[in-house]
Amino acid sequence: PWIHYRGAMSLQRTLAIIKPDAMEAGKAGAIIARIQEEGFTIQGMRQLHMTLGQAEGFYDVHRERPFFGELTEFMSRGPIVVLALEAEAAIDKWRGVIGATDPAKADAGTIRKLYGKDVGENAVHGSDAPETAAREIGYFFPGCDVRPTA
Ligand code: RTP
Ligand code: MG
Repeated sequence: PWIHYRGAMSLQRTLAIIKPDAMEAGKAGAIIARIQEEGFTIQGMRQLHMTLGQAEGFYDVHRERPFFGELTEFMSRGPIVVLALEAEAAIDKWRGVIGATDPAKADAGTIRKLYGKDVGENAVHGSDAPETAAREIGYFFPGCDVRPTA
């Protein structure tokens, strides 16, 4: 027989970043409020100012892309807030809330539509798969204080 565990079975964690453009525009509070309104639990949250090297490490998968230099300079130009978020199907849920990479193509009401400037400066980040979420949470919350999805 199947054993049914009530509750935590499909809880998942994802990494969100409030990027430097949204921090500069004073939108961190509004974005954190939105995260809570959408029903995510904040499992970890910290502010930091990445070095260029940290930004290059974080976006290592994009190293060969033409926008890599622009992206890593942008991400290291000022403070960011990183959050480990938990919810049912958190990865897809958060990407739905933030909208398409290009704010011009993002649905009405999404965070990138509301606060993003262009395809580079698009206000927020969201992990795109369980493996990347685990890596990204570990990148900013090393040790065992914030664990990726078990
Ligand atoms: P993110 O990783 O930040 O959540 O964004 P994403 O999945 O929607 O987009 P991705 O393809 O992973 O790109 C990562 C970030 O690189 C910048 N970008 N610039 N100039 C360009 O053509 C370009 N394309 C992407 C954006 O900041 C994008 O979020
Ligand atoms: Mg991505």
